[in-house]
Amino acid sequence: MTTHWHHSPTHYRPLAAALAVLGLVLVVVLSPDAVRVEAVNIFGTLHAPGELSFVAGHRGGGKDGAPENTVPAFELSLQSDADFIETDLQLTSDGVPVLMHDFTLDRTTDGAGPVWASTWAQVSRLDAGSWFDPAFAGTRVPRLDDLLDIVRPTAKRVILELKGSWNDEQLGPVVDEIRSHGLADRVMIAGFDVRSLAAAQRVGPEVQRVIIIHDVVGDPAVLAATCGAVAIVTSKAFLRADPGAVERIHDAGLGVMIYTLNSSKTWSEAIALGVDGIITDKPLELDRWLATGAG
Ligand code: G3P
Ligand code: CA
Repeated sequence: MTTHWHHSPTHYRPLAAALAVLGLVLVVVLSPDAVRVEAVNIFGTLHAPGELSFVAGHRGGGKDGAPENTVPAFELSLQSDADFIETDLQLTSDGVPVLMHDFTLDRTTDGAGPVWASTWAQVSRLDAGSWFDPAFAGTRVPRLDDLLDIVRPTAKRVILELKGSWNDEQLGPVVDEIRSHGLADRVMIAGFDVRSLAAAQRVGPEVQRVIIIHDVVGDPAVLAATCGAVAIVTSKAFLRADPGAVERIHDAGLGVMIYTLNSSKTWSEAIALGVDGIITDKPLELDRWLATGAG
């Protein structure tokens, strides 16, 4: 079929003129806030001070009774009321996305050396449970695929933190897995490295992104615009020192999450500040605390 757009036939000119006027109006209306980011739909609406935050189980809820970033931890998180499971993503030397926090295997498995230097065949044989409790001997390092399979039939969402730096080519298979599980609207890609998040934006723009940053310095909207992020994950220390930051981040149209809060005192503080999400190692304990009405 031949397209005539390149020839600008006379009957398209009124439409072109109307679109040009509309474009000009949008530029004039939007230019004062050109870097504002409003896409916070994975959060729902932004929270007000005192409104109950959503909850994310950090490293799968790694202090609730199962080893961090393993299927037993994810299953405990599923039993909790937490809305999100937070976990950490790395690639094996042969490009398999696996869930592990540390860059090396030493602390949480019976292996040694960097994750990136081991093949999936090697990692898949490791014991990722005994270090935590002998009762978990034989627990394996999960692949991203394992977590997405578990999450798919539930209503839970996932915060998938990219550990280290990622390029477009490395992110391609990750986005494909998220898409093939039908979870593009229930996974947020998180990271400290905005260049990796910008790569995620190019490869899978529909999978929302959040920036993790210890201290939010400067205009949060400018920061978020570097990778089209919808929220900022920041530290307890930063928000304690600068509680007005929650309002500034919200005013930029961005969500605010805080990590990693494991005590009722800090949960109360976060809710009073109006943060949208609390990342905790203890989602089940936070449930119990909320059930007392304390929240
Ligand atoms: O979500 C933020 C938090 O997970 C970053 O800390 O080191 O536990 O991955 P880390
Ligand atoms: Ca993490």
